[in-house]
Amino acid sequence: MLRLVDLAEPQCGPGEVLVDVTFAGVNFADTHQRRNEYLAASELPLVPGAEVAGVRRDTGERVVALTGGKGGYAEVAAVPADHAFAIPDDVDDGAALALLLQGLTAWHLLRTSGRVAAGESVVVHAAAGGTGSLAVQLAAPLTAAGRVIATASTPEKRALARELGAHAAIDSTPEDLTERLVAANEGLPVDVVLDAIGGEIFDASLEALAPFGRLVTYGVSGGKTNTVNTRKLMRASRTVTGFWFRHCLDRPAELLDGPVADLLERTGRGELRAVVGATYPLADAAQAQIDLTERRTTGKLLLDVRA
Ligand SMILES: NC(=O)c1ccc[n+]([C@@H]2O[C@H](COP(=O)([O-])OP(=O)(O)OC[C@H]3O[C@@H](n4cnc5c(N)ncnc54)[C@H](OP(=O)(O)O)[C@@H]3O)[C@@H](O)[C@H]2O)c1
Repeated sequence: MLRLVDLAEPQCGPGEVLVDVTFAGVNFADTHQRRNEYLAASELPLVPGAEVAGVRRDTGERVVALTGGKGGYAEVAAVPADHAFAIPDDVDDGAALALLLQGLTAWHLLRTSGRVAAGESVVVHAAAGGTGSLAVQLAAPLTAAGRVIATASTPEKRALARELGAHAAIDSTPEDLTERLVAANEGLPVDVVLDAIGGEIFDASLEALAPFGRLVTYGVSGGKTNTVNTRKLMRASRTVTGFWFRHCLDRPAELLDGPVADLLERTGRGELRAVVGATYPLADAAQAQIDLTERRTTGKLLLDVRA
């Protein structure tokens, strides 16, 4: 259960700085963490929140920062200095937050893990979500002439995915999903799939992959993990690869600095639109998490810490 309580200000550890928070980002991982079903075990008491925007107290800069997985749903957060990034004047705090954990995830899914090349087709599941809405937009220039195929659960979410640049947007139900993905790719098997739902969606997506195609698994929103048959994988020359953002935190100079700059620059140039779906007062953090897991939201969810 999430409760709003008064706590003392956090103490900075070595290499950390304080941020006076304006907005905290909500991520699907926060909901796993609340139930202690996340990849990393949770310990109580816990202040959730993996990312914040606000003012860095030692320099007065407006920054967006990764907390390392906890402490973000708060008025003040202690963050590693090398995980805090200055926000350009032409980007607001909410957009910068949308780009941070979910934007970096989308960036690495496509490039570092999916290794998308020009002319390839890319499937983005949950394409109207925080990560998905950015992945659709980032995939388009990488694939160049290739197709970006979105899946989402409602006509409104599919319309948003198309607006963001998807060439096709189809219903995300598992029934006939393999055939529908191939049909959406003009009758051809697909090259790359980004999947954070798992279960039947993972299995159906794997079956839609072309030889040398890659399926990047990065979440289990649907609650079911999968087992891969290596013989089938080999026979089809397919790759299944995993991604966990936490590994980017260990190599910030290489895996965070450049991608953050790229995401902010693309946003500044108007090439990338951070979709902020809803903003809740900090006291309504529980409702934000409920709305996220009940699939009612699109884009990024923010907590307004000053409301
Ligand atoms: N591995 C990593 O480092 C990493 C980093 C960031 C995110 N993630 C994962 O990526 C996924 C998306 O995260 P996000 O923060 O960007 O959230 P999100 O996509 O904004 O929200 C979740 C969306 O997932 C879809 N979904 C499909 N089946 C669902 C189910 N059974 N229950 C709930 N939602 C379902 C829904 O879209 P439809 O209604 O269109 O189906 C829903 O709106 C999560 O699984 C998250 O854990 C992983």
